Amino acid sequence: MRRMMIAGNWKMNTDRSSGTALAAGLASHVAGKNLTADVLVAPPFPYLEAVRETLGSSGIQLGAQNCSSEAEGAYTGEVSVGMLQDVGCQWVILGHSERRHILKETDSFINQKTRLALSKGLGVILCVGELLEEREASQTDEVLDRQMAGGLAEVSAADLSNVIIAYEPVWAIGTGKTATPDMADDAHAHIRGWLAENYDEDAANSMRILYGGSVKPSNAAELLGQPNVDGALVGGASLTVDNFGPIIDAGLSADKS
Ligand code: PGA
Repeated sequence: MRRMMIAGNWKMNTDRSSGTALAAGLASHVAGKNLTADVLVAPPFPYLEAVRETLGSSGIQLGAQNCSSEAEGAYTGEVSVGMLQDVGCQWVILGHSERRHILKETDSFINQKTRLALSKGLGVILCVGELLEEREASQTDEVLDRQMAGGLAEVSAADLSNVIIAYEPVWAIGTGKTATPDMADDAHAHIRGWLAENYDEDAANSMRILYGGSVKPSNAAELLGQPNVDGALVGGASLTVDNFGPIIDAGLSADKS
């Protein structure tokens, strides 16, 4: 079945010392445990390498929070897929709502990055999710369809095996408001339906769909227990071992494989 993933998105937080301390704390938290789920941290670019070195052979994976839509060259300030792989990233988070709404990234721009990352063998965690006003106007399904179709345009069925979807209702991110387990499961089921229609049943059944938006130790187990929820993308609560540790543990015990 689908292997759970518990991913920590550190956003623009930590510094070298607190980031490596967090990585070291997480490495000792998982030491000796049977990692029946993927565990991932996505630190800011400048600390990727130091965090990777600290994580060592802990089994915790490394991801980046963004990448360039271009492979290399004169793109001041950008970071390429190759550079991320060079410092040990296996995954990149793309289409996060903060990039969509604050930095005005479009579906086609996100798609360009997605295709580039996949063509080079870097896994993509593609974030989708509706705004509060879209949910209130009953447009959630429509928004998810548009973001799925836009983000995955021209992505082959073979490349899809290196994609994870993260459903993150924008109104639940960093607000303390969590989607109810039913709401999350409904949205995940809808995404799976989209995959069945636009790829096939196999693609739909094997796709891992993470939930994100105010996941914390007190709600993780219930969210992860939903049939269509295959993990969590965690922001605020991924910044301390005290919070992220129990969420990792909930992922390990929710193993559905
Ligand atoms: P949050 O963020 O857990 O702080 O709500 C989730 C995310 O943005 O990935």
